[in-house]
Amino acid sequence: MEEKLEEIKRNLHEEIRSIDAQKNAEHLRIKYLGRKGIISDLMKLIPTLPIDSRADFGQQVNSLKREITDSIEALFKTVSVQAVPKVKVELFDITLPGKLPFVGRNHPLTQTIADIKEVFASLGFDVAYGPEVELEYYNFEALNIPADHPSRTDFDTFYIKNDVLLRSQTSTVQIRVMEKQKPPIRIIAPGRVYRPDTVDARHSFMFHQVEGLLVDENVSFADLKGVLYQFIKAYFGQNVQMRLRPSFFPFTEPSAEVDISCSLCEGRGCSVCSYSGWVEILGAGMVDPNVFKAVHYDAEKYTGFAFGMGVERITMLKYGINDIRLFYENDLRFLSQF
Ligand code: DAH
Repeated sequence: MEEKLEEIKRNLHEEIRSIDAQKNAEHLRIKYLGRKGIISDLMKLIPTLPIDSRADFGQQVNSLKREITDSIEALFKTVSVQAVPKVKVELFDITLPGKLPFVGRNHPLTQTIADIKEVFASLGFDVAYGPEVELEYYNFEALNIPADHPSRTDFDTFYIKNDVLLRSQTSTVQIRVMEKQKPPIRIIAPGRVYRPDTVDARHSFMFHQVEGLLVDENVSFADLKGVLYQFIKAYFGQNVQMRLRPSFFPFTEPSAEVDISCSLCEGRGCSVCSYSGWVEILGAGMVDPNVFKAVHYDAEKYTGFAFGMGVERITMLKYGINDIRLFYENDLRFLSQF
């Protein structure tokens, strides 16, 4: 009997030495320790033995079982360590500066419009929008632009059909807002406008404007001047000077054109300001009573001011951009500077 046990032990060790995979370790476990395995078979022999040798044999089988269990457990351990795939560890220098990811940014015109909105929001202005495909009525008639005004011809306006056009100014939004709301009104209206201009460094068939409108009781030209002054200082900087020149627009009376000291040469004179030291940046004035009539406002009770500026123009002046086409070409060398 003892010999048989010794033999079992020897066989096991031989088998362990020759196995190489986890599958085989499990196979050995079943073969030796399983329910129908070798140890179990030996246990089953016990009742068949003479009574006085049973205890002794039982102890031997038990100690063999412990030994086999230890061996097979050890085997599992080595096999599972080997089974872990070998990872190739790459050493790298964590102190090296990283690569900056490419960060998208706002288009300079979007940025300018956001800047304008921010300044006027701080002065209590809301933002209003209107359609780009517009009725002739809103683009001209309601704005007191006479039927024979040259800007109404198709040299100056894109017509879609008879009385439908692409708006040539954001002043249209003044009318749309006043039709829906009663005073007090304080809005700016940014958006695209279209004109059949030949494209060159200063002209484009599509560009952006921001319109402004404030209507209430007792609004004066001084209020207009104060608001524009605040905007100009906030957008172009504290050192910029402002001046107003008398002008004419059908929808305002009196009207003015607003100049700022040339931000490129700081008023000394350069090609951008035609050596005058001043550049025009917007048109403005007190809302014409005829415009109030079109929206059924009482022109005796209410007064208001309006203004309109070109977004491309003020962006070009602020950053010294000399060609409007740069805004539309999507050249990252240009765009990534903002
Ligand atoms: N709509 C004018 C243009 O496109 C700009 C303008 C001038 C708007 C005077 C105004 C204004 O509201 O009062 O040239």
